[in-house]
Amino acid sequence: MWENFLTLSEAPGGPTCAVIAVKCPHIQVTIVDLNEARINAWNSPDFKLPIYEPGLEDVVREARGRNLFFSTNVDKAIEEADLIFVSVNTPTKKSGVGAGSAADLNYVERATRRIATVANSSKIVVEKSTVPCRTAESMRTILEANSKPNCRFDILSNPEFLAEGTAITDLYNPDRVLIGSLQTPEGKAASDALVSVYANWVPTERILTVGLWSSELSKLAANAMLAQRISSINALSAICEATGANIDEVAHAIGYDSRVGPKFLKASVGFGGSCFQKDILNLVYLSESCHLPEVAAYWRQVVEMNEYQKRRFSKRVVDTLFNTITDKRIAVLGFAFKADTGDTRESAAITLIKDFQSERALINVYDPQVEHSQIWADLQEASPQVPLDAIQKQVTICSSALEACKDAEAVVIATEWKEFQEIDWEAVYQKMNKPAFVFDGRLLVDAEKLRQIGFKV
Ligand code: UGA
Repeated sequence: MWENFLTLSEAPGGPTCAVIAVKCPHIQVTIVDLNEARINAWNSPDFKLPIYEPGLEDVVREARGRNLFFSTNVDKAIEEADLIFVSVNTPTKKSGVGAGSAADLNYVERATRRIATVANSSKIVVEKSTVPCRTAESMRTILEANSKPNCRFDILSNPEFLAEGTAITDLYNPDRVLIGSLQTPEGKAASDALVSVYANWVPTERILTVGLWSSELSKLAANAMLAQRISSINALSAICEATGANIDEVAHAIGYDSRVGPKFLKASVGFGGSCFQKDILNLVYLSESCHLPEVAAYWRQVVEMNEYQKRRFSKRVVDTLFNTITDKRIAVLGFAFKADTGDTRESAAITLIKDFQSERALINVYDPQVEHSQIWADLQEASPQVPLDAIQKQVTICSSALEACKDAEAVVIATEWKEFQEIDWEAVYQKMNKPAFVFDGRLLVDAEKLRQIGFKV
Protein backbone atom coordinates (compact mmCIF):
# COMPACT_ATOMS: atom_id res chain seq x y z
CA MET A 1 0.00 0.00 0.00
CA TRP A 2 2.74 2.47 0.91
CA GLU A 3 4.25 2.85 -2.49
CA ASN A 4 4.33 6.55 -3.09
CA PHE A 5 6.21 8.91 -0.87
CA LEU A 6 6.36 12.61 -1.19
CA THR A 7 8.58 15.14 0.46
CA LEU A 8 7.60 18.75 0.75
CA SER A 9 11.17 19.71 0.87
CA GLU A 10 13.71 21.89 2.64
CA ALA A 11 17.24 21.11 3.74
CA PRO A 12 17.07 17.76 5.62
CA GLY A 13 14.10 16.40 3.66
CA GLY A 14 16.13 15.97 0.48
CA PRO A 15 18.94 13.74 1.82
CA THR A 16 16.57 11.73 4.03
CA CYS A 17 14.15 10.87 1.27
CA ALA A 18 16.94 10.25 -1.23
CA VAL A 19 18.33 7.65 1.19
CA ILE A 20 14.86 6.09 1.61
CA ALA A 21 14.73 5.77 -2.19
CA VAL A 22 18.11 4.03 -2.31
CA LYS A 23 17.26 1.64 0.51
CA CYS A 24 13.70 0.90 -0.65
CA PRO A 25 13.70 0.41 -4.43
CA HIS A 26 10.06 -0.75 -4.21
CA ILE A 27 8.94 2.70 -3.02
CA GLN A 28 8.57 5.60 -5.40
CA VAL A 29 9.85 8.80 -3.79
CA THR A 30 9.10 12.27 -5.13
CA ILE A 31 10.73 15.36 -3.66
CA VAL A 32 8.88 18.57 -4.40
CA ASP A 33 9.84 22.16 -3.85
CA LEU A 34 8.20 25.32 -5.14
CA ASN A 35 11.63 26.76 -5.86
CA GLU A 36 12.34 25.86 -9.45
CA ALA A 37 16.06 26.62 -9.26
CA ARG A 38 16.48 24.08 -6.45
CA ILE A 39 14.56 21.39 -8.31
CA ASN A 40 16.60 22.07 -11.46
CA ALA A 41 19.75 21.68 -9.38
CA TRP A 42 18.53 18.32 -8.00
CA ASN A 43 17.81 17.26 -11.59
CA SER A 44 20.98 18.70 -13.13
CA PRO A 45 22.74 16.31 -15.53
CA ASP A 46 26.15 17.02 -13.95
CA PHE A 47 24.83 16.53 -10.37
CA LYS A 48 25.39 20.12 -9.23
CA LEU A 49 23.06 19.52 -6.27
CA PRO A 50 21.58 22.42 -4.26
CA ILE A 51 23.38 21.35 -1.07
CA TYR A 52 26.92 20.19 -0.42
CA GLU A 53 26.91 17.00 1.61
CA PRO A 54 29.61 14.31 1.37
CA GLY A 55 28.16 11.14 -0.24
CA LEU A 56 24.91 12.76 -1.38
CA GLU A 57 25.85 12.74 -5.05
CA ASP A 58 26.34 8.95 -5.04
CA VAL A 59 22.92 8.50 -3.45
CA VAL A 60 21.22 10.68 -6.06
CA ARG A 61 23.15 9.02 -8.89
CA GLU A 62 21.93 5.62 -7.78
CA ALA A 63 18.22 6.38 -7.40
CA ARG A 64 17.38 9.41 -9.53
CA GLY A 65 15.11 8.44 -12.41
CA ARG A 66 14.68 4.93 -10.96
CA ASN A 67 12.42 5.55 -7.97
CA LEU A 68 13.55 9.03 -6.95
CA PHE A 69 12.08 12.07 -8.69
CA PHE A 70 12.33 15.81 -8.16
CA SER A 71 9.48 18.07 -9.19
CA THR A 72 7.83 21.46 -8.74
CA ASN A 73 4.39 19.97 -9.38
CA VAL A 74 3.31 19.86 -5.75
CA ASP A 75 -0.38 19.15 -6.32
CA LYS A 76 0.13 16.16 -8.59
CA ALA A 77 2.62 14.68 -6.14
CA ILE A 78 0.24 15.17 -3.20
CA GLU A 79 -2.55 13.46 -5.08
CA GLU A 80 -0.43 10.43 -5.91
CA ALA A 81 1.27 9.98 -2.54
CA ASP A 82 0.30 7.51 0.18
CA LEU A 83 2.65 9.09 2.68
CA ILE A 84 3.83 12.68 2.80
CA PHE A 85 6.83 14.04 4.68
CA VAL A 86 6.43 17.70 5.55
CA SER A 87 10.01 18.97 5.66
CA VAL A 88 9.56 22.70 5.31
CA ASN A 89 11.46 25.47 7.04
CA THR A 90 10.52 26.52 10.60
CA PRO A 91 12.73 29.56 11.26
CA THR A 92 12.58 31.64 14.44
CA LYS A 93 9.93 34.35 14.13
CA LYS A 94 11.33 37.81 13.47
CA SER A 95 8.18 39.77 14.33
CA GLY A 96 4.79 39.40 15.98
CA VAL A 97 3.92 37.27 19.02
CA GLY A 98 6.93 35.29 20.22
CA ALA A 99 9.37 37.22 17.99
CA GLY A 100 12.94 36.11 18.65
CA SER A 101 12.04 32.74 20.15
CA ALA A 102 8.87 31.12 18.75
CA ALA A 103 9.09 29.07 15.57
CA ASP A 104 7.43 30.46 12.46
CA LEU A 105 4.92 27.80 11.47
CA ASN A 106 3.65 29.60 8.40
CA TYR A 107 5.26 27.12 5.98
CA VAL A 108 4.04 24.09 7.91
CA GLU A 109 0.52 25.48 7.96
CA ARG A 110 0.57 26.34 4.26
CA ALA A 111 1.82 22.87 3.36
CA THR A 112 -0.85 21.28 5.57
CA ARG A 113 -3.63 23.34 4.01
CA ARG A 114 -2.39 22.45 0.55
CA ILE A 115 -2.50 18.73 1.39
CA ALA A 116 -6.05 19.07 2.75
CA THR A 117 -7.22 20.93 -0.36
CA VAL A 118 -5.62 18.70 -2.96
CA ALA A 119 -5.92 15.20 -1.45
CA ASN A 120 -8.62 12.91 -2.85
CA SER A 121 -7.56 9.86 -0.86
CA SER A 122 -6.37 8.98 2.65
CA LYS A 123 -2.76 9.75 3.55
CA ILE A 124 -0.24 9.48 6.30
CA VAL A 125 1.24 12.91 6.96
CA VAL A 126 4.63 12.92 8.65
CA GLU A 127 6.11 15.94 10.43
CA LYS A 128 9.77 15.93 9.53
CA SER A 129 10.42 19.61 10.20
CA THR A 130 11.47 20.51 13.72
CA VAL A 131 8.32 21.91 15.26
CA PRO A 132 7.12 23.05 18.66
CA CYS A 133 5.45 20.46 20.83
CA ARG A 134 1.80 19.82 19.81
CA THR A 135 2.11 21.11 16.24
CA ALA A 136 0.68 17.78 15.08
CA GLU A 137 -2.52 18.75 16.86
CA SER A 138 -2.85 21.92 14.77
CA MET A 139 -2.06 19.98 11.61
CA ARG A 140 -4.74 17.45 12.43
CA THR A 141 -7.33 20.16 13.07
CA ILE A 142 -6.55 21.84 9.74
CA LEU A 143 -6.60 18.54 7.84
CA GLU A 144 -9.85 17.35 9.39
CA ALA A 145 -11.62 20.66 8.90
CA ASN A 146 -10.70 20.79 5.22
CA SER A 147 -10.66 17.20 4.06
CA LYS A 148 -13.01 15.64 1.52
CA PRO A 149 -15.39 12.85 2.59
CA ASN A 150 -13.70 9.43 2.73
CA CYS A 151 -10.24 10.99 3.19
CA ARG A 152 -8.49 10.03 6.42
CA PHE A 153 -5.30 11.65 7.63
CA ASP A 154 -3.03 10.05 10.16
CA ILE A 155 -0.28 12.24 11.52
CA LEU A 156 3.12 10.99 12.61
CA SER A 157 6.10 12.79 14.02
CA ASN A 158 9.44 11.53 12.70
CA PRO A 159 12.12 14.08 13.66
CA GLU A 160 15.44 14.08 11.88
CA PHE A 161 18.61 13.61 13.92
CA LEU A 162 21.20 13.80 11.15
CA ALA A 163 23.93 16.42 11.41
CA GLU A 164 25.05 18.43 8.40
CA GLY A 165 28.32 17.29 6.91
CA THR A 166 27.68 13.69 8.00
CA ALA A 167 24.07 13.47 6.77
CA ILE A 168 24.49 10.41 4.57
CA THR A 169 26.44 8.31 7.07
CA ASP A 170 24.01 9.38 9.82
CA LEU A 171 21.08 8.29 7.65
CA TYR A 172 22.65 4.96 6.68
CA ASN A 173 23.54 4.17 10.24
CA PRO A 174 21.35 6.20 12.63
CA ASP A 175 21.73 5.97 16.42
CA ARG A 176 17.95 5.81 16.45
CA VAL A 177 14.87 6.54 14.38
CA LEU A 178 12.05 8.10 16.37
CA ILE A 179 8.41 7.74 15.33
CA GLY A 180 5.61 9.36 17.32
CA SER A 181 1.93 8.65 16.81
CA LEU A 182 -1.38 8.95 18.59
CA GLN A 183 -1.82 5.89 20.77
CA THR A 184 -5.05 4.89 18.99
CA PRO A 185 -5.34 1.76 16.81
CA GLU A 186 -5.25 3.95 13.66
CA GLY A 187 -2.29 5.96 14.96
CA LYS A 188 -0.39 2.78 15.77
CA ALA A 189 -1.15 1.29 12.36
CA ALA A 190 0.26 4.39 10.67
CA SER A 191 3.34 4.18 12.89
CA ASP A 192 3.81 0.50 11.96
CA ALA A 193 3.71 1.43 8.29
CA LEU A 194 6.57 3.90 8.70
CA VAL A 195 8.50 1.46 10.93
CA SER A 196 8.36 -1.09 8.11
CA VAL A 197 10.00 1.42 5.76
CA TYR A 198 12.97 2.14 8.04
CA ALA A 199 13.23 -1.57 8.89
CA ASN A 200 14.59 -2.06 5.36
CA TRP A 201 17.97 -0.95 6.68
CA VAL A 202 17.76 0.13 10.35
CA PRO A 203 17.90 -2.62 13.03
CA THR A 204 14.45 -2.76 14.65
CA GLU A 205 15.80 -2.18 18.17
CA ARG A 206 16.93 1.26 17.01
CA ILE A 207 13.46 2.23 15.78
CA LEU A 208 11.70 3.80 18.75
CA THR A 209 7.94 4.28 18.70
CA VAL A 210 6.46 6.75 21.18
CA GLY A 211 3.56 9.17 21.62
CA LEU A 212 3.28 12.16 19.30
CA TRP A 213 4.12 14.81 21.90
CA SER A 214 7.09 12.90 23.26
CA SER A 215 8.48 12.59 19.76
CA GLU A 216 8.09 16.31 19.04
CA LEU A 217 9.63 17.31 22.36
CA SER A 218 12.48 14.77 22.10
CA LYS A 219 13.81 16.53 19.04
CA LEU A 220 14.06 19.89 20.82
CA ALA A 221 15.36 18.20 23.95
CA ALA A 222 18.11 16.32 22.07
CA ASN A 223 19.42 19.51 20.46
CA ALA A 224 19.14 21.46 23.71
CA MET A 225 21.17 18.83 25.57
CA LEU A 226 23.86 18.75 22.84
CA ALA A 227 24.11 22.54 22.70
CA GLN A 228 24.19 22.68 26.51
CA ARG A 229 27.31 20.49 26.47
CA ILE A 230 29.05 22.96 24.17
CA SER A 231 28.00 25.96 26.26
CA SER A 232 29.15 24.13 29.39
CA ILE A 233 32.57 23.34 27.95
CA ASN A 234 32.86 26.88 26.57
CA ALA A 235 32.01 28.32 29.99
CA LEU A 236 34.79 26.15 31.41
CA SER A 237 37.16 27.37 28.68
CA ALA A 238 36.82 30.89 30.12
CA ILE A 239 37.80 29.54 33.55
CA CYS A 240 40.74 27.70 31.96
CA GLU A 241 42.06 30.87 30.41
CA ALA A 242 41.79 32.67 33.74
CA THR A 243 43.54 29.91 35.69
CA GLY A 244 46.06 28.39 33.30
CA ALA A 245 44.24 25.06 33.02
CA ASN A 246 44.02 23.60 29.51
CA ILE A 247 40.47 23.10 28.20
CA ASP A 248 41.43 20.23 25.88
CA GLU A 249 42.95 18.38 28.83
CA VAL A 250 39.94 19.13 31.02
CA ALA A 251 37.50 17.95 28.31
CA HIS A 252 39.53 14.80 27.80
CA ALA A 253 39.52 14.05 31.53
CA ILE A 254 35.77 14.66 31.85
CA GLY A 255 34.95 12.67 28.72
CA TYR A 256 36.66 9.58 30.08
CA ASP A 257 33.82 9.20 32.54
CA SER A 258 31.52 6.83 30.68
CA ARG A 259 28.50 8.65 32.11
CA VAL A 260 29.65 11.80 30.32
CA GLY A 261 31.38 10.38 27.23
CA PRO A 262 33.87 12.13 24.95
CA LYS A 263 31.67 13.55 22.18
CA PHE A 264 30.51 17.16 21.87
CA LEU A 265 33.03 18.46 24.37
CA LYS A 266 35.17 20.40 21.93
CA ALA A 267 35.55 23.98 23.15
CA SER A 268 34.98 26.41 20.31
CA VAL A 269 34.28 29.94 19.29
CA GLY A 270 30.63 29.00 19.82
CA PHE A 271 28.14 26.75 18.11
CA GLY A 272 26.41 27.82 14.92
CA GLY A 273 24.02 26.24 12.46
CA SER A 274 20.35 26.45 11.79
CA CYS A 275 19.29 24.13 14.59
CA PHE A 276 20.73 24.59 18.05
CA GLN A 277 19.90 28.22 18.70
CA LYS A 278 16.51 27.98 17.00
CA ASP A 279 15.50 24.83 18.83
CA ILE A 280 16.60 26.07 22.25
CA LEU A 281 14.70 29.31 21.71
CA ASN A 282 11.73 27.20 20.73
CA LEU A 283 12.06 25.37 24.05
CA VAL A 284 12.37 28.71 25.86
CA TYR A 285 9.15 29.87 24.23
CA LEU A 286 7.41 26.63 25.14
CA SER A 287 8.55 26.99 28.76
CA GLU A 288 7.29 30.56 28.90
CA SER A 289 3.96 29.54 27.37
CA CYS A 290 3.66 26.86 30.06
CA HIS A 291 4.33 29.54 32.74
CA LEU A 292 7.67 28.05 33.69
CA PRO A 293 9.93 31.14 33.81
CA GLU A 294 12.79 29.41 35.70
CA VAL A 295 12.89 26.66 33.08
CA ALA A 296 12.87 29.25 30.30
CA ALA A 297 15.73 31.19 31.94
CA TYR A 298 17.76 27.98 32.35
CA TRP A 299 17.64 27.12 28.65
CA ARG A 300 18.03 30.71 27.49
CA GLN A 301 21.34 30.82 29.33
CA VAL A 302 22.71 28.15 26.94
CA VAL A 303 22.20 30.59 24.06
CA GLU A 304 23.51 33.54 26.06
CA MET A 305 26.67 31.62 26.93
CA ASN A 306 27.16 31.02 23.21
CA GLU A 307 26.86 34.75 22.45
CA TYR A 308 29.27 35.49 25.31
CA GLN A 309 31.80 33.02 23.88
CA LYS A 310 31.78 34.72 20.47
CA ARG A 311 32.12 38.19 22.05
CA ARG A 312 34.85 36.97 24.37
CA PHE A 313 36.79 35.59 21.42
CA SER A 314 36.73 38.77 19.34
CA LYS A 315 37.57 40.87 22.38
CA ARG A 316 40.54 38.60 23.00
CA VAL A 317 41.78 39.24 19.46
CA VAL A 318 41.57 43.01 19.93
CA ASP A 319 43.18 42.95 23.40
CA THR A 320 46.05 40.79 22.23
CA LEU A 321 46.77 42.93 19.18
CA PHE A 322 47.71 45.77 21.54
CA ASN A 323 44.12 46.96 22.02
CA THR A 324 43.56 48.10 18.47
CA ILE A 325 42.98 46.36 15.16
CA THR A 326 42.10 49.51 13.21
CA ASP A 327 43.56 49.19 9.69
CA LYS A 328 45.22 45.91 10.64
CA ARG A 329 44.61 42.93 8.37
CA ILE A 330 43.00 39.85 9.95
CA ALA A 331 42.74 36.54 8.07
CA VAL A 332 39.56 34.64 8.93
CA LEU A 333 39.87 30.98 7.92
CA GLY A 334 36.47 29.34 7.53
CA PHE A 335 33.04 30.87 7.11
CA ALA A 336 30.73 27.81 7.29
CA PHE A 337 29.16 27.03 10.68
CA LYS A 338 31.16 23.82 10.83
CA ALA A 339 33.40 21.71 8.59
CA ASP A 340 32.15 19.67 5.61
CA THR A 341 29.23 21.92 4.84
CA GLY A 342 28.65 25.06 2.81
CA ASP A 343 25.93 26.14 5.25
CA THR A 344 26.56 29.47 6.96
CA ARG A 345 23.40 29.91 9.01
CA GLU A 346 24.24 31.34 12.46
CA SER A 347 27.93 30.77 11.75
CA ALA A 348 30.26 32.17 14.41
CA ALA A 349 32.41 33.61 11.59
CA ILE A 350 29.67 36.12 10.76
CA THR A 351 29.66 37.52 14.30
CA LEU A 352 33.47 37.64 14.46
CA ILE A 353 33.79 39.47 11.14
CA LYS A 354 31.10 41.92 12.17
CA ASP A 355 32.98 42.62 15.41
CA PHE A 356 36.24 43.12 13.46
CA GLN A 357 34.45 45.42 11.02
CA SER A 358 33.22 47.62 13.85
CA GLU A 359 36.83 47.84 15.11
CA ARG A 360 37.67 49.09 11.57
CA ALA A 361 40.01 46.21 10.75
CA LEU A 362 40.65 44.88 7.23
CA ILE A 363 39.45 41.31 6.89
CA ASN A 364 40.50 38.56 4.48
CA VAL A 365 38.12 35.59 4.43
CA TYR A 366 38.71 32.14 3.01
CA ASP A 367 36.38 29.13 3.07
CA PRO A 368 36.78 26.02 0.89
CA GLN A 369 33.04 25.54 0.25
CA VAL A 370 30.99 28.66 0.83
CA GLU A 371 30.01 30.63 -2.30
CA HIS A 372 31.26 34.21 -2.39
CA SER A 373 27.73 35.50 -3.00
CA GLN A 374 26.63 33.78 0.24
CA ILE A 375 29.41 35.47 2.23
CA TRP A 376 28.38 38.89 0.92
CA ALA A 377 24.71 38.17 1.60
CA ASP A 378 25.45 37.11 5.20
CA LEU A 379 27.68 40.10 5.93
CA GLN A 380 25.09 42.43 4.44
CA GLU A 381 22.35 40.87 6.56
CA ALA A 382 24.51 41.17 9.69
CA SER A 383 25.06 44.91 9.07
CA PRO A 384 21.97 46.10 7.19
CA GLN A 385 22.77 49.76 7.84
CA VAL A 386 26.18 49.55 6.07
CA PRO A 387 26.13 49.70 2.23
CA LEU A 388 27.61 46.65 0.51
CA ASP A 389 30.38 48.63 -1.18
CA ALA A 390 31.52 49.87 2.23
CA ILE A 391 31.60 46.26 3.48
CA GLN A 392 33.59 45.29 0.40
CA LYS A 393 36.17 47.98 1.14
CA GLN A 394 36.87 46.31 4.46
CA VAL A 395 36.41 42.64 3.58
CA THR A 396 38.20 40.66 0.84
CA ILE A 397 37.28 37.11 -0.10
CA CYS A 398 40.36 35.03 -0.94
CA SER A 399 40.77 31.79 -2.86
CA SER A 400 43.25 30.08 -0.55
CA ALA A 401 44.30 30.16 3.09
CA LEU A 402 47.78 31.29 2.09
CA GLU A 403 46.41 34.19 0.07
CA ALA A 404 44.18 35.22 2.99
CA CYS A 405 47.13 35.30 5.37
CA LYS A 406 49.33 37.54 3.19
CA ASP A 407 50.26 40.75 5.05
CA ALA A 408 47.94 39.83 7.94
CA GLU A 409 48.74 40.53 11.59
CA ALA A 410 46.61 37.66 12.80
CA VAL A 411 44.96 34.46 11.63
CA VAL A 412 41.60 33.53 13.13
CA ILE A 413 40.40 29.94 12.64
CA ALA A 414 36.61 30.05 12.68
CA THR A 415 35.68 26.67 11.15
CA GLU A 416 37.23 23.27 11.82
CA TRP A 417 38.05 22.44 8.17
CA LYS A 418 40.63 19.66 8.07
CA GLU A 419 42.61 21.46 5.37
CA PHE A 420 43.56 24.17 7.89
CA GLN A 421 45.54 21.54 9.79
CA GLU A 422 47.50 20.80 6.65
CA ILE A 423 48.37 24.39 5.73
CA ASP A 424 52.07 25.07 5.12
CA TRP A 425 52.36 27.19 8.28
CA GLU A 426 56.04 28.01 7.55
CA ALA A 427 54.93 29.66 4.30
CA VAL A 428 52.09 31.45 6.10
CA TYR A 429 54.54 32.80 8.67
CA GLN A 430 56.82 34.17 5.96
CA LYS A 431 53.95 36.09 4.38
CA MET A 432 52.55 37.62 7.58
CA ASN A 433 53.49 40.81 9.42
CA LYS A 434 55.34 40.23 12.69
CA PRO A 435 54.58 39.47 15.44
CA ALA A 436 52.28 36.95 13.74
CA PHE A 437 49.33 35.80 15.84
CA VAL A 438 47.08 32.74 15.50
CA PHE A 439 43.71 32.60 17.30
CA ASP A 440 42.43 29.07 17.00
CA GLY A 441 38.66 29.23 17.60
CA ARG A 442 38.38 25.47 17.07
CA LEU A 443 41.43 24.11 18.91
CA LEU A 444 42.34 22.64 15.55
CA VAL A 445 46.04 23.22 15.01
CA ASP A 446 49.09 22.02 16.93
CA ALA A 447 49.83 25.14 18.98
CA GLU A 448 53.27 23.93 20.06
CA LYS A 449 54.36 23.39 16.46
CA LEU A 450 53.19 26.87 15.49
CA ARG A 451 55.03 28.43 18.42
CA GLN A 452 58.22 26.75 17.24
CA ILE A 453 57.79 28.40 13.85
CA GLY A 454 57.52 31.76 15.61
CA PHE A 455 53.78 32.36 15.86
CA LYS A 456 52.15 33.75 18.97
CA VAL A 457 49.22 31.34 19.50
C1 UGA B 1 22.59 19.32 15.00
C2 UGA B 1 22.54 17.98 15.76
O1 UGA B 1 23.86 17.53 16.04
C3 UGA B 1 21.78 16.93 14.95
O2 UGA B 1 21.66 15.74 15.72
C4 UGA B 1 20.39 17.47 14.61
O3 UGA B 1 19.66 16.54 13.83
C5 UGA B 1 20.56 18.75 13.83
O4 UGA B 1 21.25 19.71 14.63
C6 UGA B 1 19.19 19.27 13.45
O5 UGA B 1 18.42 19.64 14.35
O6 UGA B 1 18.83 19.24 12.27
P1 UGA B 1 24.11 20.32 13.03
O7 UGA B 1 23.57 21.64 13.47
O8 UGA B 1 24.05 19.96 11.59
O9 UGA B 1 23.37 19.12 13.81
O10 UGA B 1 25.66 20.25 13.43
P2 UGA B 1 26.47 19.81 14.76
O11 UGA B 1 27.46 18.81 14.37
O12 UGA B 1 25.57 19.47 15.88
O13 UGA B 1 27.25 21.16 15.11
C7 UGA B 1 26.58 22.34 15.57
C8 UGA B 1 27.61 23.39 15.98
O14 UGA B 1 28.28 23.02 17.18
C9 UGA B 1 28.70 23.63 14.94
O15 UGA B 1 28.96 25.01 14.83
C10 UGA B 1 29.88 22.87 15.52
O16 UGA B 1 31.10 23.35 15.05
C11 UGA B 1 29.68 23.13 17.01
N1 UGA B 1 30.33 22.15 17.90
C12 UGA B 1 30.02 20.84 17.83
C13 UGA B 1 31.25 22.60 18.84
O17 UGA B 1 31.54 23.81 18.93
N2 UGA B 1 31.84 21.69 19.67
C14 UGA B 1 31.53 20.35 19.63
O18 UGA B 1 32.11 19.58 20.42
C15 UGA B 1 30.60 19.92 18.67
